Amino acid sequence: MTDQIWTEVDDYLAGALLAPDPVLDAALADADTAGLPHIAVAPNQGKLLHLLARMAGARTILEIGTLGGYSTIWLARALPAGGKLVTCEYDPKHAEVAKANLARAGFGEDVVDVRVGAALDTLPTLAGPFDFVFIDADKVNLANYLRATLDLSRPGTTIVVDNVVRQGRVADPDDDDPNVRGARELIDLLASEDRIDATAVQTVGGKGYDGFALALVR
Ligand code: SAH
Ligand code: DHB
Ligand code: MG
Repeated sequence: MTDQIWTEVDDYLAGALLAPDPVLDAALADADTAGLPHIAVAPNQGKLLHLLARMAGARTILEIGTLGGYSTIWLARALPAGGKLVTCEYDPKHAEVAKANLARAGFGEDVVDVRVGAALDTLPTLAGPFDFVFIDADKVNLANYLRATLDLSRPGTTIVVDNVVRQGRVADPDDDDPNVRGARELIDLLASEDRIDATAVQTVGGKGYDGFALALVR
């Protein structure tokens, strides 16, 4: 099993199950032109987030880590009329690219609110509860983001966290990489927090070997 077949299968699945989407393609192209890193969710993962948000009946969505707004567009498309999304981004350049991509996708500031700043500063200023939360910013703070998210949740809030497997390194308690430690802190908190039922799944694909955590607030 190699990364190459993972990418081939991702391309096959996305080609079969995802409609051609010039708006999403343009969002990635413009993020690339602006020099943003290639770390957005894969297309089939974006659609997974979109479907999960719809399954949850989400009318209010919180995203932590916007980048160029690729996952944001997938999530915003899950909202019903009158729904709202808040997305937190530290880097003003990333936020500018995201706003342009969101505008082209038809989402003005009345629907998607891009908040620039360190998410741990922004989150306490937000009014919850949110129905659905996607945590995908810096990995060192994953557990801190989960704590802040709980303050913005209600029973039934769905929480999805990206990048919790880190090429399998999450299972090594001696790995001292800060991102790996951040993922382990998140898993520990998911396990110990009485207000949460959680699982995590490994993923392979065009983005390599990683995984998502999924949590439901009781
Ligand atoms: N969700 C995006 C990818 C996000 S990449 C997608 O799938 O399309 C992670 C993003 O988190 C980057 O844009 C990075 O600038 C941002 N970030 C890093 N540290 C942050 C912080 N402390 N607060 C908010 N955003 C942060
Ligand atoms: C990386 C991947 C991500 O999905 C992310 O949100 C941040 C970083 C990475 O592979 O470095
Ligand atoms: Mg990610």
